[in-house]
Amino acid sequence: MKKVITYGTFDLFHRGHLEILRRAKELGDHLTVVISTDEFNWNEKQKKCVYSYEDRAAIVAAIKYVDAVIPETCWEQKMTDVTDRDIDVFVMGHDWDGKFDFLKEQCEVICLPRTDGISSTEVKQIVKDDH
Ligand code: CTP
Repeated sequence: MKKVITYGTFDLFHRGHLEILRRAKELGDHLTVVISTDEFNWNEKQKKCVYSYEDRAAIVAAIKYVDAVIPETCWEQKMTDVTDRDIDVFVMGHDWDGKFDFLKEQCEVICLPRTDGISSTEVKQIVKDDH
């Protein structure tokens, strides 16, 4: 069985999120999605989500392409996730191109192009502007 892993925050779940999960699953048979916890987002990225980790994880877990969801609590866990879970393919959006090449000794590393014209940040801005 070919195992795929991908990472993200997945706040205000949108079409771009669905597309990356669909394309990630096409690369193998089993997809694990690692979702940033609220603490990790705030402490490491100064990013505050609209939806809690529990809600974001529940939404992503319900997507038909997704087989497992686990929390991301620190930058360093990528290496252990890949080895402990026998991952064959590590998938990231193009925004992270080249940043995880150090994993290439462990598995295939693939950066997929982002879906144009949408992001959680943009959705937040549109809602703010319209109200
Ligand atoms: N993604 C994508 N296309 C988009 C938006 C996101 O392919 N238009 C991918 C990202 O590359 C990442 C995953 O979806 O692999 C989760 O991204 P995340 O950062 O949670 O979503 P964004 O909408 O980019 O959020 P933000 O605006 O807060 O950065």
